[in-house]
Amino acid sequence: MLKGRHLIDPQDFTVEELDEIFSLAEEIIKNPEDFAHTCEGKILGTLFYEPSTRTRLSFETAMLRLGGKVVGFSEPSSSSVAKGENLPDTIRTVGSYTDIIAMRHPKEGAPKYASQFSPVPLINAGDGGHQHPTQTLTDLLTIKIAKGKISNLTIGLCGDLKFGRTVHSLIKAMSRYENIKFILISPNELQIPKYIKTEVLDRKLINYIEVERLEDVIDSLDILYMTRVQKERFFNEADYIRLKDSYILDREKLKSAKKDLTILHPLPRVNEISMEVDSDPRAWYFKQVKFGMFVRMALIAKLLGVS
Ligand code: CP
Repeated sequence: MLKGRHLIDPQDFTVEELDEIFSLAEEIIKNPEDFAHTCEGKILGTLFYEPSTRTRLSFETAMLRLGGKVVGFSEPSSSSVAKGENLPDTIRTVGSYTDIIAMRHPKEGAPKYASQFSPVPLINAGDGGHQHPTQTLTDLLTIKIAKGKISNLTIGLCGDLKFGRTVHSLIKAMSRYENIKFILISPNELQIPKYIKTEVLDRKLINYIEVERLEDVIDSLDILYMTRVQKERFFNEADYIRLKDSYILDREKLKSAKKDLTILHPLPRVNEISMEVDSDPRAWYFKQVKFGMFVRMALIAKLLGVS
């Protein structure tokens, strides 16, 4: 039963519960007009303490396409946060006006803390360099549609694996499916955090390797998940400049990739996928963007118990 629950971490829901959300999302994709009144009378609050294009607008359009309404802020300086209001008071207030909240915050753990004060379901829309569970719903739905399964796959995760919260959430979620092999492609300084290795990969005996060169492994991948170097999480600009173009996927590199490779990216992209790749049939990242809205429609409906 998903009604009334918070979503803070990708593992808050079982694989079976995720399947429920994906099945509903696929129904919505087939017949979106059937769901145009599902959330009539309901209001989503979007509290974004950090910039966003896809997550905020896909949540908002998801609610509007379900017949609901949206309030919120995209810039905390336009709210009473600027006057010093604390997070619990903001959440109690917004929870008094709305039926469900999506919240992004630069501090790791802020959505979990906020959920303790929320009278309505609260969804983590990204917390610092920690987790981004609704991007993971998007990624898993895209993989399911592209490959027809979320098992028996070799997935390469490439770029900033240290600060990239979408990667942390995706590893947590995919490690629950059968026979997944991770190839972790990053510069030494941007390797996956130790807690993901010890608490997820090692604990569950998941097959993974760490490499530095994409060219050495691209031919073995079923999925290539590119990520940008997260400028906003660096303390030192010189380090960012040195590392930012570590990987640039282009047509030349794709020559040795499988014909049915699926290329994903949570976006925004900076330089890490050349625009010449966009027309390659293996590029799924703009389809992935659209699936993000549909899966958030399914999530909102399930958490409100209106599906
Ligand atoms: N993928 C993602 O979280 O994009 P935004 O930062 O634009 O929301």
